[in-house]
Amino acid sequence: MRADTIIYNIKELITPRRSLPHRGKEMSQLDVIKDAFIAIRNGKIIDYGKGNHSKYMQENTYLHDANNKIVIPGLIDSHTHLVHGGSRESEFRKKIKGVPYMDILKKGGGILSTVQQTRKASFDDLFNKAKKSLDEMLLLGVTTIEAKSGYGLNYETEVKQLEVAKKLNEIHPIDISSTYLGAHALPKEFKDDKDGYIKSVLKDMALIRNNDLAESVDVFCEEAVFNIEESRQILEEAKKIGFFLRVHADELTPLGGAGLAVELNASSADHLIAISDEDINKLAKSKTVANLLPTTSFYLNKDYANAREMIDNGCIVSVSSDYNPGSSPSENFQFTMQIACNKLRMKPKEVLIAATINAAYGLGKKEKIGSISKGKDADIVILDAPNLDYIMYHFGVNHTQDVFKFGKLVVKDRQII
Ligand code: NIG
Ligand code: FE
Repeated sequence: MRADTIIYNIKELITPRRSLPHRGKEMSQLDVIKDAFIAIRNGKIIDYGKGNHSKYMQENTYLHDANNKIVIPGLIDSHTHLVHGGSRESEFRKKIKGVPYMDILKKGGGILSTVQQTRKASFDDLFNKAKKSLDEMLLLGVTTIEAKSGYGLNYETEVKQLEVAKKLNEIHPIDISSTYLGAHALPKEFKDDKDGYIKSVLKDMALIRNNDLAESVDVFCEEAVFNIEESRQILEEAKKIGFFLRVHADELTPLGGAGLAVELNASSADHLIAISDEDINKLAKSKTVANLLPTTSFYLNKDYANAREMIDNGCIVSVSSDYNPGSSPSENFQFTMQIACNKLRMKPKEVLIAATINAAYGLGKKEKIGSISKGKDADIVILDAPNLDYIMYHFGVNHTQDVFKFGKLVVKDRQII
């Protein structure tokens, strides 16, 4: 079969070996192929490997010189709060002084301040702001993300957020998997009626399902937000009507959100800074991904999740940026990967697997993306770095040179084209 695009002169092609979730020692098993090429046809990888690519050439094949640089699969950021109005630098000095995240929320700030700004914002405001963030992500080599709603806390604004994500998914090279996060906080109008709000979440969820606006449902499971029983009620109903499940679990206190995620066979349990050993064991025996968000620990000056224990016990670990205006105001997923090494004490190989195939698995897309394999989408990143370790070691800068999304060159020489 002839290729329409060939990437050649690759110093090292680095990719997860298998299209399966990786656990324990498997999280260090990458293929590294020196002097490699990748042949692409109609957006898909038709072959890759060492040696001569000439048999795939035809008259119009576009030949892309990787200039003896390293290549990895497109990065997958599987937990973001991409679409939101405004920003929260007005709370930044309080945070520096040490006012706890939850105290700011309880006083009507935090998430609720972004809710106000998101309700006020027009569709176009939200669209333009989120598009800028997506461009930033693409320049960093991110080719797929998950994006949550959760800053509307009423039907109209939650749908506005999800519609923005839907339109961005259509027009932007980055693929977006959407999540309904109506249970992100209790809106002011339901201050004294949590049951009433939960009922409205259940009702809205069904409409969102019918309109195909989200693939997953997520809950902020925290005693002061939605406790275990309330979270269970929402997630069970979501599962019944066909959503994938995600849980903001054990972020601030060891409430048991991760155990609940396992019990309900959720796609991921996210954060896990305060998870109990018992729940680590449950996760390790399950198919639920432990999605770690070290940038949030960094920004909130919190402890870091115990990634070593999770990996060594056999959990399927992924890492994500948690990009949002309150606890992780940065789109820089490479920075997340770098502090996953430094602070979660993950090895560079583990981090790459966490940010590609395990993240793809968490989004239900392991057959389509997450590794450089025959038949998969040609989502490919060329990095200006001599080896994988260097990317994690030389932190705070963008190493991405060129990006292909579904076989199309979308970033060339660090510019979106
Ligand atoms: O994942 N923990 C809850 N939600 C977000 C923060 C949202 C915000 O502060 O705006 C998180 O950290
Ligand atoms: Fe989050």
